[in-house]
Amino acid sequence: MNFSLLPNLAFLELPENFLTGIIPLQICALPKLMYLDLSNNNLTGELPLCLQNLILLEFLDIHLNQIVGYIPPKLGNLKRLIHLDLSFNLLCGTIPTTLAKLRNLMQLYLQGNSLNGSIPLEIGNLTDLACLSMEDNTFSGFIPSEIGNLKSLIELRLSSNFFIGPIPSSLAHLTSLRILDLHDNFFVGPIPSYVAKLRNLMQLYLQGNSLNGSIPLEIGNLTDLACLSMEDNTFSGFIRSEIGSLKSLIELRLSSNFFVGPIPSSLAHLTSLRILDLHDNFFVGPILSYVAKFRNLTQLYLQGNSFNGSIALEIGNLTNLAYLSLEENEFSGCIMSEICNFHSLIELRLSSNSFTGPIPSEIEGLKSLTHLDLSSNNFSGKIPHQLGSLVMLSYLNLRNNSLQGTVTQLNELFRLNYIDLSSNHLTGEIPHYLANVDYKAFYGNELFFGNGTLEKIDGFKRMSRVMHMKIYIILMAIAFISFLVLGSCIIFRHRVKSMKSETVEKNGDFLSIWNYDGRIAYEDIINATEDFDIKYCIGTGGYGSVYRAQLPNGKIVALKKLHHLEAEDPSFDQSFRNEVKHLTEVRHRSIIKLHGFCLHRRCMFLVYEYMERGSLFCALRDDVEAMELDWSKRLNIVWDMAHALSYLHHDCARPIVHRDISSNNILLDNKMQAFLSDFGMARLLEPNFSSNLTANIAGTHGYIAPELAYTLVINEKCDVYSFGVVAMETIMGEHPSDIILMLMTFFREDIMLHQILDPRLPIPRENSVARSIVLVVSLALACLSNDPKSRPAMKQVSEAFRAPKLAFPKPFRSISLAQLQKNNQGVWWEGGSRETSSSLQEEQGP
Ligand SMILES: *[C@@H]1O[C@H](CO)[C@@H](O)[C@H](O)[C@H]1NC(C)=O
Ligand SMILES: *[C@@H]1O[C@H](CO)[C@@H](O)[C@H](O)[C@H]1NC(C)=O
Ligand SMILES: *[C@@H]1O[C@H](CO)[C@@H](O)[C@H](O)[C@H]1NC(C)=O
Ligand SMILES: *[C@@H]1O[C@H](CO)[C@@H](O)[C@H](O)[C@H]1NC(C)=O
Ligand SMILES: *[C@@H]1O[C@H](CO)[C@@H](O)[C@H](O)[C@H]1NC(C)=O
Ligand SMILES: *[C@@H]1O[C@H](CO)[C@@H](O)[C@H](O)[C@H]1NC(C)=O
Ligand SMILES: *[C@@H]1O[C@H](CO)[C@@H](O)[C@H](O)[C@H]1NC(C)=O
Ligand SMILES: *[C@@H]1O[C@H](CO)[C@@H](O)[C@H](O)[C@H]1NC(C)=O
Ligand SMILES: *[C@@H]1O[C@H](CO)[C@@H](O)[C@H](O)[C@H]1NC(C)=O
Ligand SMILES: *[C@@H]1O[C@H](CO)[C@@H](O)[C@H](O)[C@H]1NC(C)=O
Ligand SMILES: *[C@@H]1O[C@H](CO)[C@@H](O)[C@H](O)[C@H]1NC(C)=O
Ligand SMILES: *[C@@H]1O[C@H](CO)[C@@H](O)[C@H](O)[C@H]1NC(C)=O
Repeated sequence: MNFSLLPNLAFLELPENFLTGIIPLQICALPKLMYLDLSNNNLTGELPLCLQNLILLEFLDIHLNQIVGYIPPKLGNLKRLIHLDLSFNLLCGTIPTTLAKLRNLMQLYLQGNSLNGSIPLEIGNLTDLACLSMEDNTFSGFIPSEIGNLKSLIELRLSSNFFIGPIPSSLAHLTSLRILDLHDNFFVGPIPSYVAKLRNLMQLYLQGNSLNGSIPLEIGNLTDLACLSMEDNTFSGFIRSEIGSLKSLIELRLSSNFFVGPIPSSLAHLTSLRILDLHDNFFVGPILSYVAKFRNLTQLYLQGNSFNGSIALEIGNLTNLAYLSLEENEFSGCIMSEICNFHSLIELRLSSNSFTGPIPSEIEGLKSLTHLDLSSNNFSGKIPHQLGSLVMLSYLNLRNNSLQGTVTQLNELFRLNYIDLSSNHLTGEIPHYLANVDYKAFYGNELFFGNGTLEKIDGFKRMSRVMHMKIYIILMAIAFISFLVLGSCIIFRHRVKSMKSETVEKNGDFLSIWNYDGRIAYEDIINATEDFDIKYCIGTGGYGSVYRAQLPNGKIVALKKLHHLEAEDPSFDQSFRNEVKHLTEVRHRSIIKLHGFCLHRRCMFLVYEYMERGSLFCALRDDVEAMELDWSKRLNIVWDMAHALSYLHHDCARPIVHRDISSNNILLDNKMQAFLSDFGMARLLEPNFSSNLTANIAGTHGYIAPELAYTLVINEKCDVYSFGVVAMETIMGEHPSDIILMLMTFFREDIMLHQILDPRLPIPRENSVARSIVLVVSLALACLSNDPKSRPAMKQVSEAFRAPKLAFPKPFRSISLAQLQKNNQGVWWEGGSRETSSSLQEEQGP
C-alpha cells in the first residue's frame, strides 16, 4: 500500500492481518495519524524511530508481534498517547524514563516481553494511568514509592518478575485499585495493615513470594474481595475471625504456609466460596458443621493438616462439590451415606486418616467419580458391589484397610486404569477381568489367581461397545463439569481493542469486539441472531450454547455464548478468558480462528470461524459420516492435529499445553479438514520446557494421561497422550479403551492391526495408505506409553509424519500391535535407525 497517497489518514487499523516484515517506515509519513493498531500480526524488526513524528497519535497497539530491540526513548514525544500496548513481543532493555512525559497515558501494557531493569521513579508522573501491566518480564529491584502517585490505577500487575523487598507502603494511596497482582516475585515481609485502605480491591494475588507474618486484622475491611491467593509463602499464625467479613469471597487459597490453630467459626459467613484451599498447613481441630453453608463450594482441599474428628454430618449439604481432599489428617469415624449425595464429585481423596466402618453402599450415588482413594485407613466389611456401577471410575485405591470378602462382584470395574487392593483381608479368586493387573495390587491378601482365561478379543470388544455409548453420554457431561470446576479467578486482563466499540462500564467490565474483514460490530451479532434467539442455536451444553450467525457481509460465524447464570460464575468466566488469551496468541492452519469476543458481565460470547461438520467425535459415531471419512481423510486429520500440537508445544513464543485434546474438541469444516478448538483449559509452559506446571486435573475422561491420576504436575506430555488416544480413535472408529487397558497391563501378542481398524471402512488396499496407518498406529502406541518420558515429543511425531522412516516387511494382515509396540522401543521415529526397505521411503505426509 502506498501510504503517501493518504496524507489525511487518521485511523489505521490492521490487526490480525498476517502482516509480516518490518513496520513500514511510510507510516511515519502520515502526520494526521491518531490511531494505529498493528496488533496480532507477524511483524518483526525494531520499533521505527520515526514513530516519534506521529505527534497526534493517541492509540498505539502493536501487541502480539515479534518486535525486537529496545523501546525507543523518543516515544516520549507522543504526548497525546492514551493507550500504549507493546505486550507479547520480544522487546528487551529497560523502560525509558522519557515515557514519563506521556501525561495522558491511561493504559500501559508491557507484559510478555524480556524487559529488565527496575521500574523508573518517573512512573509517578503518569497520574492518569488506570492499567499498568508488566507481568512476565525480567524486571527486578524494589517497587519505587512513586508508584503511590498513580491514584487512578485500577489494575496493577507485576507478577512473574524478579521484584524484591517489602510491599511498599505507598501502595496505600492507590485507593481505586481493583486488581493487585504481585505473585511469583521475591517480595518479603508482612502484608501491611494499610491494605485496608484499598477498599475497592477485588482480586489480591500474593502467592509464590516469601511474605511472612500473619493475616492482618485489617483484611476484614476489603469487603469487595472476591479472590485472595496467599499460597506458597511463609505466612504463619492463626486465621483471624475478621476473615469472615469478606462476604464476597469466591476463592480463598492459603495453602503451603505455616498457619496454625483451628479454622475460625466466622468462616461460616463466606457463603459465596467456591474454592477453599487450606492444604499443607498446621491446622487442627474438627471441620465445623458450618461448612454445610458453603453451598457453592466446588473444591475443598484440606489435605496435609491435623484436622480431626469425624466428617460433620452436614458436609452432605455440599452437593456441588467436585473435588474433596482430606488425606493426611487425623479424621476418624465412619464416612456417612450423606457424602454420597455429591452427585458432582469427581475426586474423593480420604487416604491416611483413621476412618473406620464400612464403605457405604450408597457410594453408587457418586456417578461422576473418577478418582477414589480410601487407602491407609481402617475401613472394614466387604467391598460394596455398588462400586461396580461407578462407570466413570478410573482410579481405585483401597490399599491398607481391613476389607474382607471377595472381589468377584465388581464386574464392571474392568475399565479402571489403576487399582490397588493390597494389604486387606480379601479372600478368594482374583476375577479374570483383573488377571492382567500387576499382581502387586493384590499383595497382602489371601487372593489367588484362578484358571479362567480372558475372553477372546472379539467378544471383549463387543461387550464394551455397548458400554461405550453409555459412557460417552456421561463423558459429555463430565467435559462440561470440568469446565465448571476449573475455577480460578479472573486473571486475564481486559484489553481495549477499539476505541469506537469500547465501553467502560461503571463496574469495570469491558466490551471488546474486534474488527473482522473491516467490521464486526456488537450490533451486527445481536441483529444476526435476533438477540440470540433459540432458532439460531446449533448446540448447547452445560455451560452455554453455540449459535450460528450470518453477518451482513455474508460471512457465517459460530458464537459460543455463556448462559446468563454461568456468565456470573467466575470459573466459566475464567475458562472463557483463558480461551481468548490463548487463541489470540496462536495462529496455525489447523487451529480454530477466533474472530472476536465480548467479555461483559451480562453478555459473554466468543466469535469463531464456523465449522460445518461439527466435531470428530460426532462424525465417528455417525455411520454415514464415518464412511465419508475415508482413510486418507482420517490420516490427514491425525497429521494436521500432530502439526498443530507440535506448533503449540514447540513453535510458539511461549509453549502452550492444550490439556483437553479429545475428539470432541476437534472440529471439521465442510472439506472434513480438522481444526483444534476449545482452549478453555490451556496453559502456558515456561519457554524452557524443563519446568513443570502444576494444576488441577482437567480434561476429558478417557483422554487424560494416567500420570495425572497421581501427580498434578502437567507438561506437554499430557497432550501427547491425549493425541495418542485421538489418533487411535480416528483409526479404530471408537475409543481405544481396550487397547489402553492392555497397554497398562500386558500386551497380547495375537491382536492384529487389521482387526482393530474401523470395520465400517474397507481394509486399505493402496500400499501408501496401509503404510501410513502402520505409522500412525505405531506412533499412537508410543504416545500412549504409561511413562511420560518414553512418549515422543509432538515435534518428533510431526516430523515422523513428514518424513516417515518405517520398516514393515510383512503383509499388512500379518502385522500385530505387539510388533508395532516393540518397533517403538527401537525409537525409530528419532533417527530412523531401523532397517528401512526402499519401497517404504516415499513421502506420505500431506
Ligand atoms: C515529572 O513531573 C515533575 C513535576 O511534576 C517534573 O519536574 C519532572 O520533570 C517530570 N519528569 C518527567 C520525566 O517528565
Ligand atoms: C538488560 O538487558 C540487556 C540486554 O537485553 C543487558 O545488556 C542489560 O545489562 C540488562 N540490564 C539489567 C539491569 O539487567
Ligand atoms: C476498617 O473499617 C472500620 C469500620 O468498618 C473502620 O472503622 C476502620 O477505620 C477501617 N480501617 C481502615 C484502615 O480503613
Ligand atoms: C519476616 O521476615 C523478615 C525477613 O525477611 C524477618 O526479619 C521478620 O522477623 C519476619 N517476621 C516474622 C513475623 O516472621
Ligand atoms: C442441610 O440440608 C438439610 C436438608 O437438605 C437442611 O435441613 C439443613 O438445614 C442444611 N444444613 C445447613 C447447615 O444448611
Ligand atoms: C482433636 O485434636 C485436639 C487437639 O488438637 C484434641 O483436643 C481433641 O480432643 C481432638 N478431637 C478428637 C475428636 O480427636
Ligand atoms: C497403613 O495404614 C495405617 C493407618 O491406618 C498407617 O499407620 C500405616 O502407616 C499404613 N501402612 C502403610 C504401609 O502405608
Ligand atoms: C481396625 O478395625 C478393626 C475392627 O474393625 C480392629 O480390630 C483393628 O484393631 C483396627 N486396626 C487398627 C490399626 O486400628
Ligand atoms: C479350573 O479349576 C477347576 C477346579 O479348581 C477345574 O474344575 C476346572 O476344570 C478348571 N478349568 C480350566 C479351564 O482349567
Ligand atoms: C438488522 O437487520 C435488519 C434486517 O434483518 C435490517 O433491516 C436492520 O437495519 C438491521 N439493523 C442494524 C442495526 O443493523
Ligand atoms: C531452563 O530452566 C532451568 C531451571 O528451571 C535452568 O536451570 C536452565 O538454565 C534453563 N535453560 C534455559 C535455556 O533457559
Ligand atoms: C518436573 O517434574 C519432575 C517430576 O515431578 C521432576 O523430576 C523434575 O525435576 C521437575 N522439573 C523441574 C524443572 O521442576
